[in-house]
Amino acid sequence: MTYKIAVLAGDGIGPEIVAQARKVIDAVAEKFNHQFDYTEALIGASAIDAVGNPYPDETHELCMNSDAVLFGAIGDPKYDNDPNAKVRPEQGLLKMRQKLGLYANLRPLEPFKSLLHKSPLKTELLEGVDFLCIRELTGGIYFGRPQGRSEDGNTAFDSCVYTKEEVERIVRLGFEFAGKRRKKLTVVDKANVLATSRLWREIAQKMEPEYPEIEVEYMFVDNAAMQIITWPKRFDVMVTENMFGDILTDEASVISGSLGMLPSASIGVHTSVFEPIHGSYPQVAGQNIANPCATVLSAAMMLDHAFGMKKEALIREAVDKALEAGVVTEDIADGKKAYSTSEVGDWLANYIKNV
Ligand code: IPM
Ligand code: MN
Repeated sequence: MTYKIAVLAGDGIGPEIVAQARKVIDAVAEKFNHQFDYTEALIGASAIDAVGNPYPDETHELCMNSDAVLFGAIGDPKYDNDPNAKVRPEQGLLKMRQKLGLYANLRPLEPFKSLLHKSPLKTELLEGVDFLCIRELTGGIYFGRPQGRSEDGNTAFDSCVYTKEEVERIVRLGFEFAGKRRKKLTVVDKANVLATSRLWREIAQKMEPEYPEIEVEYMFVDNAAMQIITWPKRFDVMVTENMFGDILTDEASVISGSLGMLPSASIGVHTSVFEPIHGSYPQVAGQNIANPCATVLSAAMMLDHAFGMKKEALIREAVDKALEAGVVTEDIADGKKAYSTSEVGDWLANYIKNV
């Protein structure tokens, strides 16, 4: 069987890091005799530049007709400081998530031993940390309407909206994942202030009796932000709404030593998307120095979640060995020799082929 992978490299460092993930997938294919078929398509600023639309219909068609999507990054500073820009690269990502029904974003946090010293947090706080943040991805304040400006321009508004169905399916996923792990679920909300959070809490509480083996705790998001860096070991599975999840996982990335190390999987109704949690890092685009590990590890999640291949453990092992061997990009090189993006990709692919 041939697995069809849609490749949306996007902007900035996207093409460079996705190229390394492909090398690694190809190495897995060679070693284990799998067939992967890649088709590239446009998204983000590069799609705006080419066809005026950050998520063109052809890209959506391709995603719908693929077995998985490998995604790089989007964003371009030329749009960031233009308050009048009508289309923005980020709309491409949001549209893709919405049209593919990707309501859950899985962000695992399991630091590599050889990187513990890179984190600004104390090593003893980090040893044994292994938690999964499940971020709701197609609702809340990112998508709620109305959103906009008053006619005189002096007032702006966003709306945080959640329906019972949206909350139920993501919270259920939280219980299910907790059941497969250490059986602890933390529901993060701001139920002391927000109506949507009170709905989340009500729904989670109603679901509790269906999962008697799971220990559930409810935590306000401000407290969660503090607990993530003062006692990250306490978490197993965390489930939260879209914007809280966005913010908390960037914060939690300090646990792994670099934002360049964190993968994610976006799953839901249609084809799943595998994407690093970092952005397009336009400052170094094209310089072959960006860390490809988050994308490589996202490819590992793709093999596991989309194709049921447990060989992904080997990719994580390869990354671990590269870190130990000091074959790393400058963000984690610690002042020692830094390898280029493609050198790291080559090393990982070789490791997999020869191990
Ligand atoms: C992420 C990013 C996106 C988000 C941006 C680029 C729209 O920060 O995937 O975490 O906020 O979801
Ligand atoms: Mn983010």
